Amino acid sequence: MRKQILFVLFSLATLSIHADEGMWMLTDLKAQNAVAMRELGLEIPIEEVYNANGLSLKDAVVHFGGGCTGEVISSEGLVLTNHHCGYGAIQQHSNVEHDYLTDGFWAMNRDAELPTPGLTVTFIDRILDVTDYVNEQLKKDPDPDGVNYLSPSYLGNVAERFAKAENIEITPATKLELKAFYGGNKYYLFIKTVYSDIRMVGAPPSSIGKFGADTDNWMWPRHTGDFSLFRIYADKNGKPAEYSKDNVPYTPKHFFPVSAKGIQENDFTMVMGYPGRTQEYLPSFAVEQIVNDLNPAKIEIRDAALKVQDGFMRKDNAIKIQYASKYAGVANYWKKWIGETKGLKKSNAIAIKQDFEKKFQERVNKAGKQAEYGTILADFEKNYKDIREYAIARDYFTEVVLRNSEILSFGYRLYQLEQVYNTKGEQAFNDRKNNLISGFEGLYKDYSAQVDEKVFEQLISLYATKSPKQFLPESLNNVNASALTTSVFGSSKLTSFNGLKELLNGDAKSVLEKLNQDKGYQLVKSIADSYQKNVAPKFDEINLKNIALQRTYMKGIMEFFPNDRIFPDANSTLRVTYGKVKGYKPSDAVIYEPVSYLDGVIEKYIPGDYEFDVPKKLIDLYNAKDYGRYADKNGKMPLAFIATNHTTGGNSGSPALDAKGNLIGLNFDRVWEGTMSDIYYSPEICRNIMVDARYILFVIDKFAGAKNLIEEMTIVYPKSQKAK
Ligand code: ARG
Ligand code: ASP
Repeated sequence: MRKQILFVLFSLATLSIHADEGMWMLTDLKAQNAVAMRELGLEIPIEEVYNANGLSLKDAVVHFGGGCTGEVISSEGLVLTNHHCGYGAIQQHSNVEHDYLTDGFWAMNRDAELPTPGLTVTFIDRILDVTDYVNEQLKKDPDPDGVNYLSPSYLGNVAERFAKAENIEITPATKLELKAFYGGNKYYLFIKTVYSDIRMVGAPPSSIGKFGADTDNWMWPRHTGDFSLFRIYADKNGKPAEYSKDNVPYTPKHFFPVSAKGIQENDFTMVMGYPGRTQEYLPSFAVEQIVNDLNPAKIEIRDAALKVQDGFMRKDNAIKIQYASKYAGVANYWKKWIGETKGLKKSNAIAIKQDFEKKFQERVNKAGKQAEYGTILADFEKNYKDIREYAIARDYFTEVVLRNSEILSFGYRLYQLEQVYNTKGEQAFNDRKNNLISGFEGLYKDYSAQVDEKVFEQLISLYATKSPKQFLPESLNNVNASALTTSVFGSSKLTSFNGLKELLNGDAKSVLEKLNQDKGYQLVKSIADSYQKNVAPKFDEINLKNIALQRTYMKGIMEFFPNDRIFPDANSTLRVTYGKVKGYKPSDAVIYEPVSYLDGVIEKYIPGDYEFDVPKKLIDLYNAKDYGRYADKNGKMPLAFIATNHTTGGNSGSPALDAKGNLIGLNFDRVWEGTMSDIYYSPEICRNIMVDARYILFVIDKFAGAKNLIEEMTIVYPKSQKAK
């Protein structure tokens, strides 16, 4: 026992002591990480990973479509990303005759590659530390609310000013992005180039690319071949251009050789990509709220919605098709929050943060810096107490009204339409209305009033009984959920697209009159009104105070813990994370190996199942052990592996690289027990999940027979395979 306490105390000494933790800025990589990376096993000079003035690995990494990462893997602009990142594009090209989601798609030559309007990939040309410039501007510019330092539109203006002052060349394909780091203590400008002629090249069937679907999502051991392929096209001069049949494959500055050498436990790995959002420096009070109040509320709401939808989807194929993608989206974060909550508890994240805060306070006092930092923690404590009920109410509103009850979310769009009329007048109203109608058409295509009615009944009951009573509108006070459901679904025109069109037919006055007589609309309006009046203003007020405190807290952490591994929270900018291939212990007496094999697909195989079916060709290849040059030295086909890289949402599709900068895998997920890494990273249980590059090559080569793609890549084979 005593030993245990000592151990806990020792490991509490600092917030971050783990060599694997962190999502690092490329510009600071050399100063902050060169030594640690070399110690972990990096074999190339750090300047090859990132070089401000020349070529480096970053020149092969793209922001894919805005939310994911991708990488160039041939001299002819071939881009690799996840199946779940290419999903929208694959869906967009699918129809009854060509169901590429089900059957997969492979372009056997360039002419067969499919232009994908709307899809872009973005390269970073330069990254500049503009902290001093931004601070000067902040001092000069009016800022009545004191929020300029975080405002995207303000920072966008500053970026343009800077570009002008510095004569930075701007083309139509240039994008400037200026973002705050370390809570607003540093600023970086990204100068980027956007390519918009992107064509679909290859995707395995969902029974490979999405194998295991939601049941296996966020889980290890995993057997998903989560990859797809695209190609960047450019004009004849290699410059970005809109789609044209005369465009040619883009020649990249750098592309990743693909390694068929394989990995072993403890090998060095690094992942370069676009992590979306983390909150690693939240005070304990905030984490407590997430663990005890916010996550449980959100999980309960989604749990109820998902159970209803799942019941219908299992019985009715048409509903399954309508709801599959929505269900996956809702289930994704539902499952993540469950894992996150468990992980935060199990790792004692709150106690660790509290201990860190004690140290922080001590160091502040010792340095005599009470004036600047002395009350931060007490202020945080008070603010998080004050915001609690508002934050809970906000999550109920977001999850019930905006996200999971479809009829309420439709109604909320109309509520906003009424606000447009009130604030901007008839013309703006009409513009918005026409936009809404075309958007609604798509939404209603995948809408089942039967499903939504049952979801509504559950969620409105949760809203009325579990969200803070003092903010509830009259309409929900002591409401009988089942009677309300019958009344709303029995009469509201919002339950069908035709009904909606009827409501929206006519001039603004008559539309608003009809809306305000509709029972569904009336309910949404009462809920939204009371949220806007009773919750949002106060939430925003306290939240702003917390954001400002967080900035000062971050500054203090950097000042008083200079030897800690302090990295800026993820903010959808390019980062590097590194670590080692490693298994883990999810629970007592269980040990997970770091590598999964094709054998696991066969073990999980359920013929005809929508998550675990397996294509016949893959089974045949497995039975014949026909793995080409991609088997490991024991003749087995490796499929996925895990490592200690610190990743988050947005890192999907990121290249996993070996010590030499060759591609060994494709990042796509994290393990369930470690999803708390967005708030607290523990090297014991936080792992990212990657598809093994060998499996990707095997599927392209042996399963799809797309030798054309294999030939254009530079593949690094192990010695034993070289002669073949
Ligand atoms: N959990 C992964 C990520 O957050 C994969 C999500 C896609 N798959 C799914 N079954 N929803 O993006
Ligand atoms: N699956 C996530 C993504 O799509 C990655 C993660 O959260 O680990 O970006």
